[in-house]
Amino acid sequence: MRIVQVPLGARSYEIKVGSGLLSELGAHCARLNLGQRCAVISDRNVAPRFAKAVQVSLKKAGFDSVLITVPAGETAKSLKVVEHCYDALAKHRLERKSFIVALGGGVVGDLAGFVAATYLRGIAFVQVPTTLLAQVDSSVGGKVGVNLKAGKNLVGAFHQPRLVLCDIATLRTLPLREFRAGLAEVIKYGIIYDASLFERLERDLPKLLKRDPNTLAEVIARCCEIKAEVVGQDETESGLRAILNFGHTIGHAIENISGYGKYLHGEAISIGQVAAARISATSLGLDAGEVERIRLLFQRTGLPTEIKLPAARRKKLFGAMRLDKKVAGGEIKFVLAKKIGEVVWGQNVPEYLTNEALNSPAAHRPPLP
Ligand SMILES: NC(=O)c1ccc[n+]([C@@H]2O[C@H](COP(=O)([O-])OP(=O)(O)OC[C@H]3O[C@@H](n4cnc5c(N)ncnc54)[C@H](O)[C@@H]3O)[C@@H](O)[C@H]2O)c1
Ligand SMILES: [Zn+2]
Repeated sequence: MRIVQVPLGARSYEIKVGSGLLSELGAHCARLNLGQRCAVISDRNVAPRFAKAVQVSLKKAGFDSVLITVPAGETAKSLKVVEHCYDALAKHRLERKSFIVALGGGVVGDLAGFVAATYLRGIAFVQVPTTLLAQVDSSVGGKVGVNLKAGKNLVGAFHQPRLVLCDIATLRTLPLREFRAGLAEVIKYGIIYDASLFERLERDLPKLLKRDPNTLAEVIARCCEIKAEVVGQDETESGLRAILNFGHTIGHAIENISGYGKYLHGEAISIGQVAAARISATSLGLDAGEVERIRLLFQRTGLPTEIKLPAARRKKLFGAMRLDKKVAGGEIKFVLAKKIGEVVWGQNVPEYLTNEALNSPAAHRPPLP
């Protein structure tokens, strides 16, 4: 088992990464000075697979848990489902010392975390992420929340978990498309922070795609370490934390104009990161060879690297980018790469450059190895 510390003073916690950790959950929770009663919030795909192991483990450690199952997918991140959870918590008589276990992907983590942040003005929660995206990204850092009709993640809070338990074995049942989408965030960490991680991904991609447990555990732990370091320095995103949004300005806009669901988040940010790399070449001098290495790694992962956009949809895309919450004072801010492993944030990019970056230089592309 690998352990990563998230250094946030009194709110510090550990991320544990390893295979078969679900059955140890109860024992780890027992060290956190929590009340006896708890609720496991999970979704309809994940609960039938893993909730039993989690509840048995909790019971063995003396906890009394109730299972709350919510629908699978983004629609569960709604105030209606939040209310349903509150009612179930009240019925099971959860109190100030009680806690919530979020068992599932980023949707369950964001939802259950928000419920924990607000029920009785905040109770403890533990993240047990079961998607690659959730293990390397959403379960760490304390951003929780739900969607409104007007847009994604518009209601939320910062509420740090007390523990994150990443059981690599749960990834075995994750659909391939979801797994690849998670790799888009993994590759992002290489680009924004760690050139040697990026090189390792270039080398070990076949092992990762086969979900080799050792490679996965090492890579996931490294990604968590990077996120922990960034969040430890800037918990509430007043500066450095923005680098985690590399590729997300364009990515969010693609998700938005395509109707949520057409592109998975990881697919949209794959296109976004390739475009951001191209913009970085023109405005920061990122080496053309590095732009190509970035594009190729996403392509080898089986992720989309470009999007065909007729003029009208392109206009919508720019509209969506301007509406994104990362726009400050009307300017669209970008995270751009100086080189693989080093980025800068808060960069103004003229619209024509973004436009150019979205016109793929397909003709110049070398053939796949
Ligand atoms: N809080 C943050 O910092 C943060 C960061 C990134 C993303 N997010 C949020 O995360 C959400 C996306 O998370 P996601 O990609 O994990 O999606 P998800 O939670 O919807 O999971 C994807 C699908 O996989 C299923 N699933 C989960 N684990 C499985 C397993 N082990 N085996 C089989 N099926 C499994 C789920 O039921 C779902 O159908 C978005 O709502 C996004 O806004 C939050
Ligand atoms: Zn993301």
